[in-house]
Amino acid sequence: MSSLPHGVAGVHALPSDHHDGPWDAVIVDPRVKERLLATAVLVLRHGRRLAGSAVAPHGLIVLAGPPGTGKTTLAQGLAQAAARALAPHGATTLVEVDPHAFPSELLGESQRAVSRLFREDLPELAARRPHTVVLVDEVEALAVRRQSASFDTNPVDVHRATDAVLSGLDALRAQRPGTLLVVTTNFADAVDEAFLSRADLVIRTELPSAEVTPLIVADSLRELAAQWSELTPLAENVAVHEKVGRLLDGVDGRRIRKTVHGALALRLATAADPALLTAEDLVEAAEETAAEAVRRA
Ligand SMILES: Nc1ncnc2c1ncn2[C@@H]1O[C@H](COP(=O)(O)OP(=O)(O)OP(=O)(O)O)[C@@H](O)[C@H]1O
Ligand SMILES: [Mg+2]
Repeated sequence: MSSLPHGVAGVHALPSDHHDGPWDAVIVDPRVKERLLATAVLVLRHGRRLAGSAVAPHGLIVLAGPPGTGKTTLAQGLAQAAARALAPHGATTLVEVDPHAFPSELLGESQRAVSRLFREDLPELAARRPHTVVLVDEVEALAVRRQSASFDTNPVDVHRATDAVLSGLDALRAQRPGTLLVVTTNFADAVDEAFLSRADLVIRTELPSAEVTPLIVADSLRELAAQWSELTPLAENVAVHEKVGRLLDGVDGRRIRKTVHGALALRLATAADPALLTAEDLVEAAEETAAEAVRRA
């Protein structure tokens, strides 16, 4: 494809092997993934048939929660997991919307641009393949005023952003029932009012529990062991995962993964040869992360 419509960051045909990974990378209660996948499949496969009925889905899934809790990863993984499940019935288009493409300084103009995106560009893209997933990551960015002095997000802006998306969603649904919109946001508070009534599913991602934290440590080590097989024993050492996990209690998933990777860079020797990573390195890195978390609290 030559050029993308304004506000569209990417268009992908799914399923595609190199989109495997995200879905398995996020460790959550399996029921969360089951609900996500079931909702996606119902909308994508039967949305058209249900259109107009009292039970017609809106085609909206919201992932809300604190930073680093897997919202973006889950949303991307969901598109691929749904595409795999639906592959016998045809391919899926994943459209990634760039919310930063609509600066709110140009209020009227950016509203028109959002409107054109939902009323013209997305319906056109959705006509290409039997199934379409539209991902709006960090929806609050859509109408955030970017002042150089402050990056604070005003809840009023969040509501304006969500309003623009919700009216766009209605337009899209009228033209292309069965299109699935997946939206992520850090602003859980804005979700209730703006989204709850229309969302077919709201998932609130949370900081990993004490049981999950060591599993993320283990998964991060397995990833390293896939590159440096000498690390396999460390990747299988549950006692180490639990010890490191206890230190990282209350830390988000991104920090946990970064801590494991950061352990490679505590010493020049491990940076040069990651196969030399030890349990002591991991513990030291985790202690550092924990101390930093305390400082910030
Ligand atoms: N529950 C989890 N299990 C495993 N990995 C996780 C988990 N939560 C987050 N991660 C990892 O943390 C990294 C960041 O996740 P992601 O970008 O999806 O978070 P996010 O919620 O979208 O954050 P933000 O709000 O900052 O955009 C990814 O590598 C992801 O795999
Ligand atoms: Mg994200």
